[in-house]
Amino acid sequence: MNLTHSLQISKTAQSRLPEVDFDNLAFGEIFTDHMFVCTFRDGKWQSPEILPYQDIPMSPAASALHYGQAVFEGMKAYKDDAGSVWLFRPELNFNRINTSAKRLSIPEFPKEYFFEGLHNLLQLDSNWIQPGIGNSLYVRPFVFASQACVQAAPSTEYKFIIICSPVKAYYSGEVNVLIEKKFSRAAAGGVGYAKAAGNYAAQFYPTALANQKGFQQIIWTDASSHQFLEEAGTMNIFFRINNTLITAPTGDTILNGITRKSVIEWAKAAGIKVEERAVAIDEIITAQHNGSLKEIFGSGTAVVISPVNSFAYEDERYQLPKIKNAYALQIKKAITEIQYNQAEDPFGWRHKVS
Ligand code: COI
Repeated sequence: MNLTHSLQISKTAQSRLPEVDFDNLAFGEIFTDHMFVCTFRDGKWQSPEILPYQDIPMSPAASALHYGQAVFEGMKAYKDDAGSVWLFRPELNFNRINTSAKRLSIPEFPKEYFFEGLHNLLQLDSNWIQPGIGNSLYVRPFVFASQACVQAAPSTEYKFIIICSPVKAYYSGEVNVLIEKKFSRAAAGGVGYAKAAGNYAAQFYPTALANQKGFQQIIWTDASSHQFLEEAGTMNIFFRINNTLITAPTGDTILNGITRKSVIEWAKAAGIKVEERAVAIDEIITAQHNGSLKEIFGSGTAVVISPVNSFAYEDERYQLPKIKNAYALQIKKAITEIQYNQAEDPFGWRHKVS
């Protein structure tokens, strides 16, 4: 790849940091002082820049607005008590955005630009990261088709941007989920495994219907039979039957979650049996009835590990038991302690920024 490789940095004249109320942060509504921007034009990625955070000029004919040619990532930066800034397995996010991009016919983004941009951006805006478990900076890399053209064809221009938002917990209360039988999130051969913008838009309507019934999330079932549990859209999903953790295997229809992968690796190293296999709704209902279903929890960058309080299927609501030493809490503690540099990192997951 022919890289020009000169990151231009323009700093903001006036930080907005003093205006931020860190005790009352709604997820993803406030953005830091700077952003990383790189344009693809004339067949190559141009010189990357860091600019003051600002609106982006865009043609109303920009292809992403019409055909949804856009993908994104979700990562978090953490600050330890000594003030050092860390990322968690960022090379997996980098690989995944290019996997997603390939599926959407978007040109691959260069690794050097990604990491140089990310490091400089996080260093510039490091004062926006509060130390302490529960505080983090949500990092949102995304790429979209920016060519002004409404032909239904891949764009010839793209913007790769990284923005950052200080956050706390994604869900503040309990999480009750609905097993969905009518709508589908992803089908075999489709884009379900990609972090394609449209995958999320397609969930908004069914999720809003579920919200009206008091559920925070949907558990999606496979599009052909609606008999197997897949993922929850903002999170992958784990079931604990007796002492075995079970989760659907990644493939065409399921996001290859980085927290999911870390849960599996940590659990196996801790001696917990993990099965990646199809999970039938019938199996979960039977396990609920005979008392062997101990836990359900979601995993994701935004949600971290989110225990499920209850689930519903075909108008029946099932309450999960309250148990001691829940795997969800043990795993959440272990992973967050690694993320915040409060524990050894035997897996080499932590990545130092500064
Ligand atoms: C993430 O966990 O980063 C996600 O992508 C979920 C997001 C849609 C809030």
